Amino acid sequence: MNDQKQAANADNSSEGSALSSPHVVVIGSINMDMVVRAATIPMPGQTISGHHFSTVPGGKGANQAVAAARCGARVSMIGRVGNDDFGQRLLLGLKANNVDTTAVMITEGVHTGCANIIVDDNGENAICVAGGANLLLSIEDIDEQIDLITQADVIVMQLEIPQETVVYALQQAHRSKIPVILNPAPAPDVINPALFDADVLIPNQDETTRLCGEPAGDVHAAKLAGSALIGQGAKNVVITLGKRGALALNTKHISQIPPYCTSIVDTTGAGDAFCGAFAVAFTREKVGEPSGEVIASAARFAAAAGALACSKFGAQPSMPHLEAIQRLIQRSC
Ligand code: RIB
Repeated sequence: MNDQKQAANADNSSEGSALSSPHVVVIGSINMDMVVRAATIPMPGQTISGHHFSTVPGGKGANQAVAAARCGARVSMIGRVGNDDFGQRLLLGLKANNVDTTAVMITEGVHTGCANIIVDDNGENAICVAGGANLLLSIEDIDEQIDLITQADVIVMQLEIPQETVVYALQQAHRSKIPVILNPAPAPDVINPALFDADVLIPNQDETTRLCGEPAGDVHAAKLAGSALIGQGAKNVVITLGKRGALALNTKHISQIPPYCTSIVDTTGAGDAFCGAFAVAFTREKVGEPSGEVIASAARFAAAAGALACSKFGAQPSMPHLEAIQRLIQRSC
């Protein structure tokens, strides 16, 4: 980030202002979610009756882009959709949320990413994604969009696109000193260690366990697992812990972020709301190397966004606006 931008951003705290508009570039997936609501999530081999079906815009990348835009950022999305109805609807939805889709490519001969989702009566979900066009986002695509990437204030990525593309984009961003936030979701069986170079890693508890082999189901376990990730080379780690809040840590600092209280309708996209909001708060607060306090402060703002996302149905429709996040934070003080 250049000095002028840093000075402008330093005047605005994440919780207090929408005056500065950081430029967030999200490189990631765009999916149509096909959601069935049912009393329970079926066991393997079981057929159950659901009670409601809808198609809802989703995809971890697109959700995070919408979350950041609703927090007041200028957002550009780099991704791929198929040349089909879902792709068209998803592009329109992103545009309606003020996400610049100039760098979303329409791809022939492959379907737009789709996610089959079952949401149970407790708001928990099970998700199976057919990546489609998302899986064709390539290193060459990153080269094509290099100007967009190197002019961003922050790059946000997840792992629903090829890992080699994420690694390459991270390296290109870092060559221009652009910070990178990585949500390692879904966690792969084998992670490229270069991904630990991300400036901030934001896994949930399950992804944390898959990345480091340590359980992370409660705050105490998450502290140990987070330290293990730091031991593996991660610089700053924010572990989202669902109803237990979050944990932010680096080599010098550890902060427990308490949960915000909201009703739970559907947890789909809560992690994405967290990541998109985190990116905006992080960029507004960051001056030079991010300190533990900056990470923790951004995580507090993001935790409110994640909690609000749980209180509404669907992924992208549930991404909260800045004003709602600020109200929840004020109410909880
Ligand atoms: O994080 C939730 C998202 O995961 C859903 O929108 C679905 O598309 C999958 O990518």
